[in-house]
Amino acid sequence: MAREKWGSRIGLILAMAGNAVGLGNFIRFPSQAAQYGGAFMIPYFLAFFLLGIPLMWVEWEIGRYGGKFGHGSLPGMLDKMWNKPIAKYLGVLGVVSPLLIVSYYMYVESWTLGYAFFSATGSYFQASTFDSIRQFMTDYISPGGAQFLIAIVFFVITVAVNFFIISRGVVQGIEKSAKVLMPLLIIFAILLAIRVLFLGTPDPSKPDNSVLSGLAYQWVPDFKVLLAAPVWLAATGQIFFTLSLGGGEIPTYASYLKKDDDIVLNGLATSSTNEFCEVILGGSIAIPAAVAFFGIAQTQAATGNMGLGFLSMPLVFQNIPLGQFFGALWFLLLFFAAITSSLAMLQPVVTFFQDEFGWSRMKSSLFAIGAAVAIALPCIFLPGVFDEVDFWAGTVGLAVLALIEIIIFGWFFDIEKGWVEMHKGADMRIPKIFKFIIKYVAPLYILAIFIGWIATDLPAFLAKGDIYTWGARIMVVVLMAIFCILIKIAWDKKAKAAAKMKESLPAPPFAAQKEEK
Ligand code: ALA
Repeated sequence: MAREKWGSRIGLILAMAGNAVGLGNFIRFPSQAAQYGGAFMIPYFLAFFLLGIPLMWVEWEIGRYGGKFGHGSLPGMLDKMWNKPIAKYLGVLGVVSPLLIVSYYMYVESWTLGYAFFSATGSYFQASTFDSIRQFMTDYISPGGAQFLIAIVFFVITVAVNFFIISRGVVQGIEKSAKVLMPLLIIFAILLAIRVLFLGTPDPSKPDNSVLSGLAYQWVPDFKVLLAAPVWLAATGQIFFTLSLGGGEIPTYASYLKKDDDIVLNGLATSSTNEFCEVILGGSIAIPAAVAFFGIAQTQAATGNMGLGFLSMPLVFQNIPLGQFFGALWFLLLFFAAITSSLAMLQPVVTFFQDEFGWSRMKSSLFAIGAAVAIALPCIFLPGVFDEVDFWAGTVGLAVLALIEIIIFGWFFDIEKGWVEMHKGADMRIPKIFKFIIKYVAPLYILAIFIGWIATDLPAFLAKGDIYTWGARIMVVVLMAIFCILIKIAWDKKAKAAAKMKESLPAPPFAAQKEEK
């Protein structure tokens, strides 16, 4: 069966932007920036230009190239780009990482839906201090908490909506929903950003707590912070996460391109839309609002995990007119951002079974959703599993796969050939310097960051050797092994079918046989 193709250019750009723009833009980015202050933006932009933009083009090209051969996930794509038996196994992370990430991502996505409901009904409006709003969140997300059952109901709704959209396919499901949700997301974000920018100095007796000091905190660098490794690791990790790089989602979406669709311009449009939503819109909401009401120290203290999005913002809404309305707007915005990204993380798994095993879209979607829910359960119910899976799949996995992709593209497929391929159908030429960046700078940069993570974060993670964290690690390894076996089965099956087909073809005529010898 012929693979689907994106229906329109605007649909493609909105779907790709939906893929990239997610919780990362509106919660993760401000939390990270709040931890390091203005210094964060320097390694952030450096990583964007030296890794983000080039890797985005490379992933679009890998996807379009693989799609030409009927492969929508990385095992098949890398196999076509580097003709070695190991290549397909190197692509396993392009299926396993998004599957692992989407499992806990959908859970957080469901909180945003729950909190949109709580905002509209004013449920958390009595919890007016950091301690009480934290307690409200604990009651909601922790197993056994007073409101945990509601959290499970919203999780089930979120999973059902994801399944409904993904099972309708790329054009009718993903593209159609992106065309509605992305414009809404941008309108909601602009409304909220304008509202926040007009907050001024809410309490004149505390002149330091203002929107302006929030913006200054985010943009004026303290250069001393740059001398330590964590800010570099965090900023680079954020670029991978926010642009959806190294997780297999961009190549999968690009596999539905037509053979002459413009990669250069559309890839750049995806990166810039994401940065607009992150730095301009995401940067104008949570931090300035939190600093205006609580000051810098309190904002920093509340950044851990989801603090800024689920603790500070609900408190802000309690202090402004029409707070319930703006609260609902904020959490719906987060929900739209999240769902367009979770669909992108499910699709590599769906297409893996469709392309490599010939399963129907419905069966593949059921399997992908079922697997994601099965992985989500330990993340929801067992302590420490969420963070552990996030570290291996959402941090280490992304860097490892990005490194594999860029080395195969720049060295084994060959940069010269890749450069020509990338420009097929392009209205614009990529500056030549990017050839050098793709071949040398980006791989070394990723390697350096990877070693940095191993040196700084790994010991702390390995030190947490309780039964749950070891269980999570074993789950990750077992999942990789299962998908490697599936890849082997699929390829063996195809080789057998090809051999059978050759046998059943009529023998070439005598003259041709002689010529062949
Ligand atoms: N890129 C997606 C996000 O930022 C995963 O949330």
